[in-house]
Amino acid sequence: MAVKVSLATGLLVALFLAPAQAQLRGHGGPVKALAVSADGVTAISGSFDSSAIVWSLTRNSAEQVLRFHESAVNAVAMLPDGGLVTAGEDGKIALWRPGVAQPHTVFSGHTAPIVALAVSPDGKRIASASWDRTVRVWPVGGGAPQVLEGHQQNVNGVAFTPDGKSVVSVSHDPQLRIWPLAGGQTTIVTLPTPLNAVAVASDGEIVVGGADGRVFFFSPSGAPRGDFAATDTPLISVAITRDGTLIAAAGIRGSVAIVDRATRTLTRTLVGPGLPVWAAAFLPDNETLITGGTDRMVRRWNAVTGDHIGAVAMAAADDPLAEYAGDRGAEIYRACIACHTLTPDAGNRAGPTLHGIFGRRIASLEGYRFSDALKKLDIVWTPETVSKLFEVGPMEYTPGTKMPEQRIGSAEDRAALVEFLRKTTTK
Ligand code: HEC
Repeated sequence: MAVKVSLATGLLVALFLAPAQAQLRGHGGPVKALAVSADGVTAISGSFDSSAIVWSLTRNSAEQVLRFHESAVNAVAMLPDGGLVTAGEDGKIALWRPGVAQPHTVFSGHTAPIVALAVSPDGKRIASASWDRTVRVWPVGGGAPQVLEGHQQNVNGVAFTPDGKSVVSVSHDPQLRIWPLAGGQTTIVTLPTPLNAVAVASDGEIVVGGADGRVFFFSPSGAPRGDFAATDTPLISVAITRDGTLIAAAGIRGSVAIVDRATRTLTRTLVGPGLPVWAAAFLPDNETLITGGTDRMVRRWNAVTGDHIGAVAMAAADDPLAEYAGDRGAEIYRACIACHTLTPDAGNRAGPTLHGIFGRRIASLEGYRFSDALKKLDIVWTPETVSKLFEVGPMEYTPGTKMPEQRIGSAEDRAALVEFLRKTTTK
């Protein structure tokens, strides 16, 4: 009975919040890639909007916007030392240190989009999969990459084996390849359908997502161990829990299938807001899954119960806007809350605090590292200029900004937002 009640309430809340949720986002475009740190505290998301965002999963906020790539950020990864890796449609791989505005290293060489990244277990090498049909393995410390050639079509997925000695790749061609990095024979397995994603479990079992919606299993040496029809639409992302018990397989037009690896059975299908999903990653607790998709948000699920826990930036126990219930401006401001704060002591998130915004010259707040491009602009923030910013969009009004592109179409909503900011940023 208790369960029924909470389910019903959950549904009501979801319906009630739907319009606000739709605006609560960090990204200005679909989320394409996700990775979670080994301690489960931080996540990174890559987006079609050409930015990556670093999220604190404990504080439920966006900590940093990473802007470097010329177009979509298709793949992201985290190094064991906390370093961040992004790779894009522009064929480049950027290495970042947390809190630093520019990448410290850029790897160039791929001649077509990079669509997947993997980090070796010792954190010393990064493997990239590209539509230029190669896999490259880059020493993190620098030096020439190993170029693995042989796929006849786009390479869509890449992973390291648990011993770090081989790289596994999957391609549209439709082959699975296991490349021993020290040299030696490449194992080649040809499958009946183009392959979109690969993950390797901690015991070495290889899990592949196919364009026909099937999940294929292989032994560490590439021997087929069966397959499982997860959905009837192409799979685009597969993730495995660290303990290897669960697999999440995300389909291009559908939901996320949760598969029990030991029994090869479907335990859950996650359906709800925010689907379809482009990217999925498990937290180290082996049951929380985060997904990113077309609705531009990073969402949290319990893969064991199937519950949708909420968008990352919304999962905070206390709603900071609770005291403004019914205020239209506060609802609009939900789209900003992941990156900005309002009060003097709340500090900066991915974006500068908006406390005292009116009357402030653009990019003048001490202690926040603004983009250089912004410092050259001649704008003073007033209700009119902030309104203009979201009428034409940050890209046009403040070219070179790190703030993801977003617009507020309705003049009434813009007026409500600046009125809300007037009330809340001057306290
Ligand atoms: C994903 C993060 C993110 C979201 C969401 C976001 N911003 Fe920003 N915002 C930033 C970043 C980052 C900057 C600094 C830009 C730079 O330095 O290039 C910024 C800058 C600004 C500035 C200029 C501040 C200054 O001191 O010059 C204003 C004003 C602003 N944002 C308002 C908003 C409002 C209002 C919303 C919601 C409608 C919003 N932002 C949503 C990240 C975000």
